[in-house]
Amino acid sequence: MKTKILMISPECAPFSKVGGLADMVSSLSKQFASLGCDVRVFTPLYASVKRNSKFAKEMDNLSVHMGLGIEEFASIWSAPLGSAKACFIEFNRYFDRPGIYDYFSSPYDDNGGRFSFMSRAALEYCLSTGWIPDVIHCHDWTTGLVPVYLNTTLRNTPLGRVPTVFTIHNMQHQGVFHPGTLEYAGIPMSEFRADNCESYGSLNMLKAALYNSTKITTVSPTYSHEIRTPEYGCGLDHVLRFRAADLIGIVNGVDGNEWNPKTDKYIAANYGLADMSGKSVCKSALQARMGLDKRKEVPIFGVVSRLYDQKGLDLLARISQPLVEHMDIQIALLGSGEPWLEDAFRRLSASNSGSIASYIGYDNELSHMIEAGSDFFIMPSRFEPCGLNQMYSMIYGTLPVARSTGGLADTIEQYSEGAGSGTGFLFSDATADALYNTVGWACSTWYDRPSEILSLRRNSMNRDFSWALSAEKYAQVYKWADEARSKGF
Ligand code: ADP
Ligand code: GLC
Repeated sequence: MKTKILMISPECAPFSKVGGLADMVSSLSKQFASLGCDVRVFTPLYASVKRNSKFAKEMDNLSVHMGLGIEEFASIWSAPLGSAKACFIEFNRYFDRPGIYDYFSSPYDDNGGRFSFMSRAALEYCLSTGWIPDVIHCHDWTTGLVPVYLNTTLRNTPLGRVPTVFTIHNMQHQGVFHPGTLEYAGIPMSEFRADNCESYGSLNMLKAALYNSTKITTVSPTYSHEIRTPEYGCGLDHVLRFRAADLIGIVNGVDGNEWNPKTDKYIAANYGLADMSGKSVCKSALQARMGLDKRKEVPIFGVVSRLYDQKGLDLLARISQPLVEHMDIQIALLGSGEPWLEDAFRRLSASNSGSIASYIGYDNELSHMIEAGSDFFIMPSRFEPCGLNQMYSMIYGTLPVARSTGGLADTIEQYSEGAGSGTGFLFSDATADALYNTVGWACSTWYDRPSEILSLRRNSMNRDFSWALSAEKYAQVYKWADEARSKGF
């Protein structure tokens, strides 16, 4: 019989996406479906979801029982996601809005209710259709109450024996709300305890997940260790130390249909290791598109990122001017986020036109053009649970210049000068000086040791970042979770 996997996630590419969570959920689901599993991804039907011709209404009037005697009715739509199925919860009061979590950086004040509803609706679908999954895989704080439901209100239903696997994509976002949200969700207030979902007098949905899930994963082995320390644990490191035996780090894979220089439909010319000539065509196309000087010999340092504290790009903003004054390089940035940082990059490109170009906004096509057309890719993250762009870069022969943390440390191999081994340039301190020196190291390698750049490109393009291996590891975790749940955990 087919293994049934229920994924619950606030984002699912290509329908809704803020960051890498959307890519991960979508590509892992497709991978399991391609292995013959019955995978359904439950996610909200936001106003921004583009309904293609394959969208079909699957269910009307799904009754969703919240707490305080509230019963709501939702519709379920579905669309193919590879050979998996994306299931959309239509409930306009909560989801028919322009943003996923916020409106112009201001979080919706009913997010606690919105995502408790998403969690509960996915579970009610299972109960009302009799589609009982073999495992429920939840992602980040928005799904934090799912394992609590299974341990409390729904324990004596057919879902009560189903194991839960919770993946941490980012410890910084925890879903902290007024305790009343727990009552609205329909979870007994007896669960509002420090060793469960209470934190400093509030409901903490991430903490709820960490105490209640059968197994916990995060998206790289290094991050799985970092978050057990106060420096990276965002106040929940003690819970992760408590659950250490059940916490596993698995690096994300890359969707090769989406990110492959040989087939990419967004780039000016396709290329691969056997014939790299297309890469210089992509470089000229990027220079033309972003208004950089058309010079083949100068290295381009690309950036595609959310512009928030996590990503450390304020460090790059501080050194961009001296970088282009003292080194012959170009910078091509695509990003959006903190308004002050957006402004800083706008100003830098206005006063350095030809050598610094920034596009403030979200643009999938341009992100592919930057991966293909750049020579280096900058990621100075303060923390990085996994990071996808460094892997996309390496697949495109674009060498990462990155801080050695989390998934960056696990996926990039440090360049060894002279030996020509490695796949990128790593540094340790989250400081502007360290970033400046490492860009300098990459730049001198470009000009002084071009043959080593070619070796690094070859090494990075030969790396296998496909999902096959990581999906095998998740399958193992599902098995462990099943064994543990059958013993009552
Ligand atoms: P995070 O999820 O923390 O933002 P990841 O590296 O895991 O970091 O994933 C980021 C994803 O979002 C990548 O697919 C990247 O290409 C994409 N992305 C980020 N910012 C933009 C942007 N401004 N335009 C297009 N794609 C973007
Ligand atoms: C989060 C993390 C990022 C990771 C992504 C997908 O957004 O910030 O590092 O790659 O989730 O797991």
